[in-house]
Amino acid sequence: MHKVIAPKILYLGTPVVLISTMNRDGSVNLAPMSSAWWLDQTGVLGLGTRGQTFANLQRDGDCVLNLPSVNQVAEVDRLALTTGSDPVPDYKLAMNFRHVRNKFDEAGLTAVPSDLVRPPRVMECPIQLEAKVKAIHSVGAVEDYSACIEVQIIRVHAEEELLDAESRHHISPDRWRPLIMSFLSFYGLGDEVHGSRLAEVF
Ligand SMILES: Cc1cc2nc3c(=O)[nH]c(=O)nc-3n(C[C@H](O)[C@H](O)[C@H](O)COP(=O)(O)O)c2cc1C
Repeated sequence: MHKVIAPKILYLGTPVVLISTMNRDGSVNLAPMSSAWWLDQTGVLGLGTRGQTFANLQRDGDCVLNLPSVNQVAEVDRLALTTGSDPVPDYKLAMNFRHVRNKFDEAGLTAVPSDLVRPPRVMECPIQLEAKVKAIHSVGAVEDYSACIEVQIIRVHAEEELLDAESRHHISPDRWRPLIMSFLSFYGLGDEVHGSRLAEVF
């Protein structure tokens, strides 16, 4: 039996991404987000337009999408309720957000240089995607302050232990354990439940 419901949010389960961007003064911002999906070599990101990350992407365009595994959940959670924006916007103050200048120190994560973009990678994240903004689209009503950002992935770094033993350019889904946000809780993935017919033709 199904019921018609009116949930406030529809966060149905997506991977967490720690996105690093450059602030105007040359310092680095790092923010957790999870409205992210992929098509070929394009990443599509859903972001609030009042955050520091959005401002940086709009101005500068370079970013690294760092994908934490379940092992980095504590570090990710330390960045919740923080913003690189100074002053903190009123609506975030009302939710107890605070400004943090060095998010890497705050989270206990390590910045390492990227190859092709200015923002650094997060060393602890097993997958790091260097990317450049290609397009920004406004999403929803004006008062939603939401945007959808297309980024082109220009370099993929993967922790060696994740790689398929035979094909070194493939990430093994049995080894990659993404951190998933479902509604407002963190989860991991379980074991494979079924073979995929799509995999046979790809
Ligand atoms: C696990 C997690 C997932 C989040 N997902 C998103 C998201 O998909 N889009 C978004 O705009 N904010 C998301 N947020 C909230 C941002 O992290 C928050 O607005 C933060 O202040 C942004 O930082 P910034 O202002 O320094 O860019 C998420 C927060 C957490 C902890």
